[in-house]
Amino acid sequence: MSLEDKFAELARRRAEAELGGGEERIRRQHKAGKKTARERLELLLDPGSFTELDRFVVHQSHDFGMDAQRIPGDGVVTGSGRIHGRPAFVFAQDFTVFGGSLSDAYARKICKVMDLAMKTGAPIVGLNDSGGARIQEGVVSLAGYADIFLRNTLASGVVPQISAIMGPCAGGAVYSPAITDFVFMVKNTSYMFVTGPDVIRSVTHESVSAEELGGATTHGTTSGVAHFAADSEEECLALIRELLTFLPQNNLEDPPVRPTQDPADRRDESLQAAVPDQPNRPYDMKEIIRTVLDDRYFFEVQGAYAPNLVVGFGRLGGRPVGIVANQPAHLAGCLDIAASLKGARFVRFCDCFNLPLVTFEDVPGFLPGTAQEFGGIIKHGAKLLYAFCEATVPKLTVITRKAYGGAYCVMSSKHIRGDVNLAYPTAEIAVMGPDGAVNILYRRELEQAGDAAAFRDAKTREYREKFAHPYVAAERGYIDEVIEPRDTRARLCAALELLRTKRDANPPKKHGNIPL
Ligand code: HXC
Repeated sequence: MSLEDKFAELARRRAEAELGGGEERIRRQHKAGKKTARERLELLLDPGSFTELDRFVVHQSHDFGMDAQRIPGDGVVTGSGRIHGRPAFVFAQDFTVFGGSLSDAYARKICKVMDLAMKTGAPIVGLNDSGGARIQEGVVSLAGYADIFLRNTLASGVVPQISAIMGPCAGGAVYSPAITDFVFMVKNTSYMFVTGPDVIRSVTHESVSAEELGGATTHGTTSGVAHFAADSEEECLALIRELLTFLPQNNLEDPPVRPTQDPADRRDESLQAAVPDQPNRPYDMKEIIRTVLDDRYFFEVQGAYAPNLVVGFGRLGGRPVGIVANQPAHLAGCLDIAASLKGARFVRFCDCFNLPLVTFEDVPGFLPGTAQEFGGIIKHGAKLLYAFCEATVPKLTVITRKAYGGAYCVMSSKHIRGDVNLAYPTAEIAVMGPDGAVNILYRRELEQAGDAAAFRDAKTREYREKFAHPYVAAERGYIDEVIEPRDTRARLCAALELLRTKRDANPPKKHGNIPL
């Protein structure tokens, strides 16, 4: 073979690999409203930055006539590239090759990039679009999944792991994305479930479509499995790129600073009236969050799930922070099971990756009800408490209004190592709200009083004056300072700067035992 022939052979093999399952299957993929694995990688990565690995890998299976069907790459495109200039490892499942199903060789390709991500300290992004275990390979395929699950677990908290679901993801295959830090889904073209509509119909006689059961909207709002539900693949991949701008490459780095023109000491007069005068009047905490952050920009995570707790990323003085905030506009900002789970996972993510936590607090307590108690609000609420307690990143808290009961302790209070705890003059920090307190303290008197309403009003006023303000807590040093709302940004930016060199650690242990 001449030299030219050898180069031509390489070009031919490359072109063959790039065609995946062939033109007809690519056409079908497009018809289904989906892009190919390679088209997706082009959108995910900086232009021209993709370096492929294992392009010529084929499966080694012989059963069911598989020896006659060997497609270079074997159904997953893997390699590395850059996202906003920083390295990332990637794998994109190729549905055009055996339905993107996972073989032994395919799993080893994924494991190879995961191992490289770990060794080099770079994020790993997986684009999922697969019919699951390669049926022709049987248990070997299951072994491949387990190899990936182990790596997901070992990489957890070391490098950011991101999953996008861009087609089917069913059965045990869902557990790799589930272990990763963020799950993105595309509306109408992706679904995730452990058992599909057919099995459900035969076992429980429920009739449900794949989209209703495990589509992006379901997982973005009801189950909380997905953190982002995008309208299109383009949007999904753009969101992944944006998320990574807030994150360090690994747990040993600080998140990247993005300089801003927005002055750190910017005062905002609109904040003075952001919290209404009446204690039970709702308001949108996201307004306060946006007003305080650099360029008024907030990147919300899980916006449609448990909206009574808001979480997401922003920057203060250029430095990325994780925001956790009660939302009085939903369920009066109560903590419930879903909010506790959402908050706990987010807090732990931020703590893993050196993102300071900024907590905005207006919480009347935990949501009452049998559904909550039977559902285990005790252990789920404890997760959020545990997460805030164990976090050693800088922790800043602003109490805008209510901070009642156990929820006061939970929401990054001074007692659980809050570094800087501020309160607005509108803050009410107490065991419970005035109405509840009067009902308990004066039960007998209320039963006996001639004019119970007047008695209740008087006692409620008395309690409010005594406790429904920030000064009892401030007198004890539980609140470092009571600030004017317009100074929030300046105070937080200054505190963050001060805490840049914060060092804190938990006692040595194998790992804690978070109440699961
Ligand atoms: C091998 C598969 C496959 C699989 C699909 N294909 N799934 N090949 N193993 N698991 C192949 C099909 O034969 C077909 O090949 C091509 O992929 C496209 O599949 P279609 O059925 O034509 O596509 P579509 O109509 O879009 O349906 C997609 C699908 C369906 C819903 C994913 O293919 C399906 O139900 N597949 C089986 C899913 C499944 O039961 N997987 C195993 C689950 S158990 P041709 O040559 O015709 O293009 C599992 C356990 C994981 O995954 C455990 C981890 C611990």
